[in-house]
Order: sequence, then C-alpha cells, then structure tokens
Amino acid sequence: MAESLIIDSTLEKAEKYKALLPQIEALVTGENDLIANLANTMAALKQGFNFFWVGAYLVKDGELVLGPFQGPVACTRIAFTRGVCGASYSRQETIIVPDVDAFPGHIACSSDSKSEIVVPVFKNEQVVMVLDVDSNKLDDFDETDKYYLEQLATLMTNWF
Ligand code: SME
Repeated sequence: MAESLIIDSTLEKAEKYKALLPQIEALVTGENDLIANLANTMAALKQGFNFFWVGAYLVKDGELVLGPFQGPVACTRIAFTRGVCGASYSRQETIIVPDVDAFPGHIACSSDSKSEIVVPVFKNEQVVMVLDVDSNKLDDFDETDKYYLEQLATLMTNWF
C-alpha cells in the first residue's frame, strides 16, 4: 500500500477530491480490515482537507456507534431518531446542514461545529454506516462535497 499522500494544498476542492479518492483507494488495496481502512481514510480526509471533525458512525445493535475519526472527542452512541446522523440514516440520504443551530435535533458534540454533512454508506440496500464531516465555519459544504463524498461512500461499501 501507499503510505504517504500527495495532496497539493493549493488545489480547488473538486480537484483535491479527485486527487485524494484514488489515493484512498490505493491505501486500502489488499486490506480487508474495516477499522484499519476507515482509520486511514479519516486520516487521509483530515490531512487533505483539514476538516474540523471527520469520522464514521457504524450501525450496530440498533443504533449508530462511533468508529474511527479525526478531531475532538465525540458522542459515542446516537439513536437512529436523533441528530443529523440519525436523520441521514433514517432518510437514507446525504444531508447538508449549513447552520447546525438551525437543524432541529442537531447533536452538538462540540460547540465549535457550525456546519455539517452526513453521507450514508449502503450495503445490500441497507445503511451500514454514516460518514460525518463537521466544519467550524458556517455553510462550508456544498454539492461538490456531496458528489465526491458519495463516491467515497460507494467505495466504502466494499469494506463491509
Ligand atoms: N452533529 C452530529 C453528531 C456527531 S458529531 O457532530 C461528531 C449529529 O447531529 O448527528
């Protein structure tokens, strides 16, 4: 596997995703351990975008349970009916929240988090994980993030 990333910090967001996604694919090639692959992926996303918080919530025993992440400590368990993560799980779709204070039921793991995107990962048409990315800036996520993070979610399907 490749053990270092090459990311030009001057690239535009879409170009950065285009550079990063194949490197994440290379990073996990030949490795079938879910936690190892998620851990390296979160590190790669943090390194590439310096996201405030990026991590996995895995569907386990009827709720969402914290998996590998990068950033400040976070809530360990989230009910399917709670927060942006629970909403993404229940609606089975990506949710972009430009202002977390305006999202009813948002769970504030950190008061510094201002905007958020949550992308579901599917296996056999069931949501098995949500990928959660938080920013400390308002309105930091758009359709470009949605497009490329959904591509990443499709890649992640193979890890389950
Ligand atoms: N804000 C999320 C909870 C997870 S933390 O942001 C890491 C939510 O409302 O589901």
